[in-house]
Amino acid sequence: MFKRFDKLYGIDLGTSNTVIFEQGKGIVLSEPSVVAFHQSTGELLAVGAEAQAMIGRAPAHVDITYPLRNGVIANFDLTSSMLQHFIKKIQGRSSLLRSSQVYISVPCGITNVQKRAVEETIVHKGAKRAIAVEEPLAAALGAGLPIDEPIGHLVLDIGGGSCQVAILSLGGIVASHTVNRAGMSLDLDIMDYVKRQYNLEIGERTAEEIKKQIGTARASSEERTLGIKGRDVINGLPRSIQLSSREIYTVVDDFLQLLVEAIRATLERCPPELAGDVVEQGILLCGGGALLEGIDERIREETGVPVHIAEHPLECTALGTGMMLGAHNSKRVPAWREAKPESAVQQDAGQQAEM
Ligand SMILES: Nc1ncnc2c1ncn2[C@@H]1O[C@H](COP(=O)(O)OP(=O)(O)OP(=O)(O)O)[C@@H](O)[C@H]1O
Ligand SMILES: [Mg+2]
Repeated sequence: MFKRFDKLYGIDLGTSNTVIFEQGKGIVLSEPSVVAFHQSTGELLAVGAEAQAMIGRAPAHVDITYPLRNGVIANFDLTSSMLQHFIKKIQGRSSLLRSSQVYISVPCGITNVQKRAVEETIVHKGAKRAIAVEEPLAAALGAGLPIDEPIGHLVLDIGGGSCQVAILSLGGIVASHTVNRAGMSLDLDIMDYVKRQYNLEIGERTAEEIKKQIGTARASSEERTLGIKGRDVINGLPRSIQLSSREIYTVVDDFLQLLVEAIRATLERCPPELAGDVVEQGILLCGGGALLEGIDERIREETGVPVHIAEHPLECTALGTGMMLGAHNSKRVPAWREAKPESAVQQDAGQQAEM
């Protein structure tokens, strides 16, 4: 059991954003999962929001990267440095997770080796114990679903690097499907569209802003326009254009079809009783992509199933990991807790956290 002085953290280590929950305080950090470093020396120059602000504006010797790809750690050293920076930011002094217990979310469907690697990264940062939990379970819990009950719930998490569809019952995942396209690939599709259609090059951050401001999942939504600036591909000079929400809808549409297909495929693979529950309970949308205008209506129209958006789609996974931490103090043992103990990585008595 955890000692009273242990700090308890829930971490949503996402491809786009890292969100950290601390027990007793709530959400203590929410920053983009980005690092900027010196190309030749490897020196870390900026992390999080500060590094994101440098995207598209940095000199040639500065590399800016997202250390996770499709929800999975792609660069361990950079992920570790990024976490170290975030820990220092929330703790003020130490950049170690000393005397702490951590629940950290990972995408569903990753291998045990990948799961262990994430846990070891956290223990390496000084934590006494790290437990990887599947993101849709944490997100559903954080959004207030009673995931321990013998009732089927369908969660669609639309993140930055991947989308996960999962059917949950009795605190576990019964069927799931991962789509390795999500918010960040939509931004690239918007960049491609603007280049093809207008011979204009725009950066990732402009593309993301276009998606957030005039992106829509409904063909019939009221038309909105946005003025954007970019660089003319032919003469290299800056130029402005007006983009309409209709155009962005055509870019987003293919991606939405993939999501609907993924929901169908997951429902097909689950027992009929659970599929029946989902039709009654509806689909829970979470992750930043749930904020795309009209996405709930569109998925409702295409699947015939009611759709609800989580109250805090960007934070519910971290909130859920926090609730899992809280359950350690409760007498009732939730089903998901029973299902996971073998995956926990603990620090050996003599193990030193290396910084
Ligand atoms: N209003 C909005 N409309 C559309 N997309 C949005 C909106 N707000 C945020 N997003 C997108 O949500 C994505 C980030 O979501 P989230 O923080 O849930 O991802 P993540 O957890 O970091 O990624 P993953 O779970 O795939 O590892 C980004 O691609 C961002 O552009
Ligand atoms: Mg996520």
